Amino acid sequence: MIVIKTPEELARMRVSGRLAAEVRDELARRIGPGVTTAELDDLARELIARHGGHSAFFGYRGYPGHICVSVNDEVVHGIPGPRRIQVGDIVSLDVGVVYEGYIGDTAATVMVGVSDPEVMRLVSVGRRALEAAIAQAVAGGRLSDISHAIESTASEAGYSVVRDFVGHGVGKTMHEDPQIPNFGPPGHGPRLKPGMTLALEPMINRGRFEVDVMPDGWTVRTRDRGLSVHFEHTIAIGEGAAEVLTCPGPK
Ligand code: MF3
Ligand code: CO
Ligand code: CO
Repeated sequence: MIVIKTPEELARMRVSGRLAAEVRDELARRIGPGVTTAELDDLARELIARHGGHSAFFGYRGYPGHICVSVNDEVVHGIPGPRRIQVGDIVSLDVGVVYEGYIGDTAATVMVGVSDPEVMRLVSVGRRALEAAIAQAVAGGRLSDISHAIESTASEAGYSVVRDFVGHGVGKTMHEDPQIPNFGPPGHGPRLKPGMTLALEPMINRGRFEVDVMPDGWTVRTRDRGLSVHFEHTIAIGEGAAEVLTCPGPK
């Protein structure tokens, strides 16, 4: 069942979304060569707590981190630890916060001193795939229009989309209906309605689409060890264009 949020719930989702986005952006500013992924996790925990929220991830199915930090060929769900970020790395930060019972879920891949134009192109295609998804997230459209926009953006650029993980509805719980695959033909699935809140999250690989879960039970890596990018926004379907909830507030 897809939950339709009331205007009051949407107002709360805006607050959680803003907090998640501000944490994501602050982490992106603090990342740099020599920083460990555990330091980013600590910082995220502090920032979220300072604003009166808590991580939506910590303890979720036993997940041990407050955020996910996935480096290079890691796709998603990288567990923070002693690994030090190096020049040339791409780092996917996934931040989920609970604030007054509602969740904001957002991710972005950031480049740390990347000078390879092909890597820059992969990252920008990931960002564009999310933008294309948001452009299809309009009332009256069908769910798989979003999926198709992501897949075509990736495949036209010569990349593949991860099939084992999907976007999702989000609200009082992190993973609500519907599941949103990042591939497939348009024109299928439920009709999009105002008040639906969805986490759209393309995961795009430079090489092949296959991925594996590592022995830690969480970290997902590309099977061919090629680079992977991940961008995610929590959005609300409106009367016109979707509203991106995971954007920072005015400074
Ligand atoms: N935020 C992830 C998603 O986008 C889920 C993280 S699961 C966790 O759906 F256990 F790592 F928290
Ligand atoms: Co996420
Ligand atoms: Co998500």
